[in-house]
Amino acid sequence: MLGHNGVDKTMTDSQSSLDVPDLPSWAHPPSDMTAATRDIKAAIRARIEASGRSVEEVFGVVADLVSGRTDEIRSAEQASGTGWPVIDYSDLAAGTVSADSDSVVHRRGCLVVRGHFDHEQALSWDRQIVDYMDSNRFFEKYRGPGDDFFGAVDSKPEIYPIYWSHAQMQARQSERMAHVQAFLNSLWRNTSSGTERFEPHRNVLYPDRIRRRPEGTTSTGLGTHIDAGTFDLWMKAEYQQAFRHVFDGSIEQFDPWSAAHRTSGSQYPSTTMTSVFRTFQGWTALSDMAHDQGVLQTVPIPEAIAYLLLRPLLSDVADDDMCGMIAGQVFPVTERWHAPLLDALSGIPDIRAGDSVWWHGDMPHAVAPVTDQRGWGNVMYVPAAPWCPRNQTYAASALAALNSGASPSDFPDENYEQDWPNRFQPHELNHYGRQSLGLD
Ligand SMILES: [Fe+2]
Repeated sequence: MLGHNGVDKTMTDSQSSLDVPDLPSWAHPPSDMTAATRDIKAAIRARIEASGRSVEEVFGVVADLVSGRTDEIRSAEQASGTGWPVIDYSDLAAGTVSADSDSVVHRRGCLVVRGHFDHEQALSWDRQIVDYMDSNRFFEKYRGPGDDFFGAVDSKPEIYPIYWSHAQMQARQSERMAHVQAFLNSLWRNTSSGTERFEPHRNVLYPDRIRRRPEGTTSTGLGTHIDAGTFDLWMKAEYQQAFRHVFDGSIEQFDPWSAAHRTSGSQYPSTTMTSVFRTFQGWTALSDMAHDQGVLQTVPIPEAIAYLLLRPLLSDVADDDMCGMIAGQVFPVTERWHAPLLDALSGIPDIRAGDSVWWHGDMPHAVAPVTDQRGWGNVMYVPAAPWCPRNQTYAASALAALNSGASPSDFPDENYEQDWPNRFQPHELNHYGRQSLGLD
């Protein structure tokens, strides 16, 4: 909680909910987004001011935290070469991760799992994916990105809409993946009044894409953004509840690790979206990657989402503007509006094929630019998304996509693999795969 980081003011839930104006909410995207933006911003301002504090004061609490953490991250980088926590898979599987390591992961919201998979296994998966794409002449047929989702951050990432290779499915339904996902899920505060909000040891199988970047690539990377949502983060009732302490002046009570109000509801529809509740987004490395070769960066501050949600409420942003957000495109984190967050960007250390990389589902992230890249930069995206009502709903649609070989419903309707004879078949699911699709 923010109050744990040197801020004295505390406020109870009951105090914070007294006599504060309700927020309007929109279960579906408002037909007039401009008017809705004006309305919700005015309502949140009024709600915060009813607490006796100004929006500037509440934002200042978060800005101070970001500034302090940024200093901490830079110190960690100087001391150890990276701001990222690193945990060996063997410790994680044996349950011997130290309390210190746990608390650093909580503070940074990200980690590298060393040796998640065997190095040779990961390199073999990389070759298998290439064979799978080549045998089906993917690069002759590829029509380019299926949407303009990353237009808001002026990027065209080298991400390919391949979902159903054996390599990807083997990783998704492996015991080693289940162990890591369970560890990550357990970092969230999951219970309320004795009721579990999600099952930490069971995940939904979430089919996502691959990134392949060849040697010699010169790329502008991928601009800083978040995946958690866009306008819906302010406008949908469930998110208003999840971020209630951000929106009602009790910012010190905001806990980015609380699963309350995260496990039902959904995002506003878009051609690229995240229907599921992800405790962590992640990828598994399929090639060795040096830290200076255009790799992933995060703003390793889980509370950064509060900064992003409060920033448009300040007086220098027009009443109908959410700091440059565009409907249907990714949530941009920009120099113009969020410069202190970009100052905190911290890149991953050197990675070997088979390591995995994880970051809190709300956290800003980017891919750094690179010139004449040394080595390949190949990954497959596999998140941690624990079993809960929201994710169970998506499991049914993921299973339907597996059966037909279609692109999953969270992604553009590109459907390259439907007639590929060597894609993964449902009868090849093991126990973990079946469980994660709701079949066992
Ligand atoms: Fe992203």
